[in-house]
Amino acid sequence: MTHILAGLRTVRLNEKGEQVIILDQTRLPEKEIYLTLSSAEEIWEAIYHLKVRGAPAIGIAAAYGLAVCCKQIKTSSFELFLEQFGQLKTYLASSRPTAVNLMAALNRMEQIVLNHADLPIEQIQNRLITEAELIREEDVVACRKIGEFGLSLLRPGMGLLTHCNAGHLAVSAYGTALAPIYLGEEQNYGFHVFADETRPLLQGARLTAYELMKAGVSTTLICDNMASSVMQKGWVQAVLVGCDRIAANGDTANKIGTSGVAILARHYGIPFYVLGPTSTIDHNCPDGESIEIEERHPDEVTTMWYEKRMAPRDVSVFNPAFDVTPHQLITAIITEKGIAYPPFSETLPTNGCDLFL
Ligand code: MRU
Repeated sequence: MTHILAGLRTVRLNEKGEQVIILDQTRLPEKEIYLTLSSAEEIWEAIYHLKVRGAPAIGIAAAYGLAVCCKQIKTSSFELFLEQFGQLKTYLASSRPTAVNLMAALNRMEQIVLNHADLPIEQIQNRLITEAELIREEDVVACRKIGEFGLSLLRPGMGLLTHCNAGHLAVSAYGTALAPIYLGEEQNYGFHVFADETRPLLQGARLTAYELMKAGVSTTLICDNMASSVMQKGWVQAVLVGCDRIAANGDTANKIGTSGVAILARHYGIPFYVLGPTSTIDHNCPDGESIEIEERHPDEVTTMWYEKRMAPRDVSVFNPAFDVTPHQLITAIITEKGIAYPPFSETLPTNGCDLFL
């Protein structure tokens, strides 16, 4: 299965499995620059500074990063290997706290080590590379399925609104929220997409508008505070967003501003769909209040993207990277396993079993 943006690789391993290669998303849309990373510090920095971002993509990048760094461990002792593995895992997990995919991917890698304590270190190192590749391959399949389920909810010619970037750049291929749009594009659905610019880091303007246009999707960029206006005009028939962590009751953390879009959608009677892989569901997290929300540097609000500072010096700034959309505002949650409708505490899939539809 090929994808219209297949030439754009968000994250991959080099042939020898010794380097992680990422498309530097902070340089888009002007330049497509690929970075080669091989130390834990480089990988941590790339995730923290959003050179690679989006919940599934940071999970894949961290898994690749861990595999690459573990390959550099020189010991024949399993105990020493495990100790260094643990340090690397803890360090990479500290790069961004909200997206559960990061921790889920690192935990999967840890299981590989623990399950193969009897093997020579070199073989464990090779299995870590294989597992990281598997995480990426599974993500491609999951995103495609999410796209198919999502498309079943949409009709040709619809106007769609999305927030942040939950597209090809945020995953391995297709995206989550944008996957139905790409599949629809392949089938001439003729969607029109409104992309929220997504203050303060402009993922909508820099990334979503970029990749949608590159794929030939009809796209209009709006500032975040224009969403109500386009909804009021009747131009939006569905909202599609991604997710960084879905709590057991369906409360969903996603890019800051998402909950406001959900409130608007409810006001105007527009369905609000959350799309993401089951690796984003955290069944250990009962509700949105239990989700740790990352707070980022004030400069992202006051200075970044401006030619000169646009706020008084020393002004107090609150810069949460995510917010939580209460489950009551979500029409359906679409994963690779199907479409879950409320009550989500009963319908969200648990690992390994298809519960719903
Ligand atoms: O801070 P970011 O750019 O990593 O935030 C990304 C989002 O909020 C996405 O919507 C989410 O990770 C889903 S990506 C398929």
